[in-house]
This record gives sequence, structure tokens and C-alpha cells, in this order.
Amino acid sequence: MNLQERLVRYRDLRPCLTAFIDTRSPGSDKKENFTIIGPGVSENPDQYVHIELPHGFNIGGARQPPGCLNSQHSHLTNEVFVVHSGKWAFRSGVDASDGEIILSEGDVISLPTDIFRGFENVGEDKAFLYAVLGRDDPGRVLWAPQVFDLARDFGLVLMEDGSLVDTREGEIPPEGKSPMPRTTPEQVAQHQVVSSKQMNGIVIRRNDFRWSGASALSRFDGIEEAALLGPANEAEALPGGHLGWSHEFVLRALRFTHGASVPAHRRWEEEVIFVQSGHLCVSVNGETLELGPGDTFTTPIGSSRTFTNTGAATCLAYITRRNDQPEAPEFL
Ligand SMILES: [Fe+2]
Repeated sequence: MNLQERLVRYRDLRPCLTAFIDTRSPGSDKKENFTIIGPGVSENPDQYVHIELPHGFNIGGARQPPGCLNSQHSHLTNEVFVVHSGKWAFRSGVDASDGEIILSEGDVISLPTDIFRGFENVGEDKAFLYAVLGRDDPGRVLWAPQVFDLARDFGLVLMEDGSLVDTREGEIPPEGKSPMPRTTPEQVAQHQVVSSKQMNGIVIRRNDFRWSGASALSRFDGIEEAALLGPANEAEALPGGHLGWSHEFVLRALRFTHGASVPAHRRWEEEVIFVQSGHLCVSVNGETLELGPGDTFTTPIGSSRTFTNTGAATCLAYITRRNDQPEAPEFL
């Protein structure tokens, strides 16, 4: 696999407009879904997967115009969003009425498995959320009961194996397959009620990142690193993140002033770089790539890598690594 195959540029993202059961429901029908790394949780086999390599987590995205909704649902693994652009309302509860929090560019929210969540673009422009979903196989989406009813009104039936049957297109449920039963009150009762105030406990705002100049990477000039997700990790010289519970992956923010560089080092687990703003030059075993805003790159395990901010502005990147406690980087 060459380096280009490990890079997904924002401008090359291939959306699926029919990934989920709510794809026709008014308010949700303009939603674009992306599977950047890993199989994701799409209900549509036509969803395009940019990078199929297993990482222990999935990377995806959602792009929605103003007023567009992602319906209430939950997952069997942790779901984390980074607001890449715009302004988003995240709502908790089976009918979206338990709590609400508004997030802006750079903010991060981590949703545990037992919270029904949905989100809406409440900004002025089309905007993009970058998402990390736990495990190689995150299982199926559990939709709030009313999502099934609305979908049926618009001709879509979700089957038990996760596929969608489009009755408007004349499809009929294949023999031997049955529809996914509507989510039961018992299943709903297994979820927490989370108020607007309590939602602050699953969010870290861009302005509240605890920047460190003393981590394994940030001891170099012009580099700062912040732990956002996961427990403290001695190997990286980082404290626990604001969202410090186990996710089986970690999320870090890295900030580079103009010209700042992290010298050649190796790592022993998957490492995915997402550029939030600015430009980052990544060299892998001597080959170089320029990343810009919204671009995603997964670094080959064990390879030598350097990161340099080649742009005029500060560069902010989010890094996802496999495991709660990645190994120490080995400087060369
Ligand atoms: Fe989700």
C-alpha cells in the first residue's frame, strides 16, 4: 500500500446519501455520510470505504446543510465527534428532548454507548463533522423507535441483517429475511437520561484543551500537545484527557507554530492524522505528503515519520491512535 492510498483528501471524499434508515425522512434527507477508514456502521452496501485496513476503530464523517438532522440513535461502542466546521447541536434522549449542547469548530464530544444521540447543523453553511467509532466491528446502529415509523412512511424498511429494503423502488424483503424489530421500551430503558448540563461532562471545548509543552512530541520547539481522550499515559508523558475513560483508542490535539517540526520517530500502533486547520507536511520513510484542512492520513506502523508545519499559519491536527495507552514514540 503506497502513501497515496493512505491519504484521503477532503475534496476527494465520496459521500453516500442513502447510508441509513433515515435517509428519506424530511430533515435528514440531505445528509452525506462518509466511511474514511474501516467498515463503519452503514446499512447500505453501496457505501464507499476509502481505506479498508483495520485500525481497531473506524473513522467517518457527516456533512450536512443547515437544518439537516441526524436521527436519534445509539451504538455498541464509543462514538466521538470533532467539529471540523460550522456549528452543531447535539441532543440526548430517545426523542431528543433530554438535553442539548451547541458545539463549534474544534470542539469534541464523546458519546458512551448508553446515550441516545442525534445532531443538527445549526450554523449558516454546509458543515462537516469528523467521527471516530470504536472497534473494527462497531455492530449495528440502534435507532430510536420513531425513526422506524418515519422510514416506513417513506418506503424504507431496515432488515435484521442491517440492510435496507426500498419498497418505493419495488424491492420486497428477500425470502428468509425479516425486518429489524422496532426498538423496544426495554431497550430504550437501558439508556441514560442526560440533561443539557450533564452533556458538558462528555464534551471538551477547543478553548479548554490542556496544552502541554512537555509530552514526548511537544518537547520540540513550537509544538504543543493536548490529551483529549483516554487515561494518563506515562509512555507519551501525557496526563489523562478531559474525557479520560477507556475508548480503546486515544485522541490527541497537536499544535504547530509556523516552521515547527517533530523529528523522525517510529510508532507501533495505528496513527491517523486529521488536519483541522493549517498545513502539515508529513514525511514517511523519506517520502513527503502535504496535508491541508479536512485531510486524513494513516501512517504505516513502524515507519519513520516527521511532521512539519510548512504553512504560514498555526497548524492544528487531531491524532487518533489505537489502544488506551499507546507505546512511547521511538526517536531515530
Ligand atoms: Fe452515530
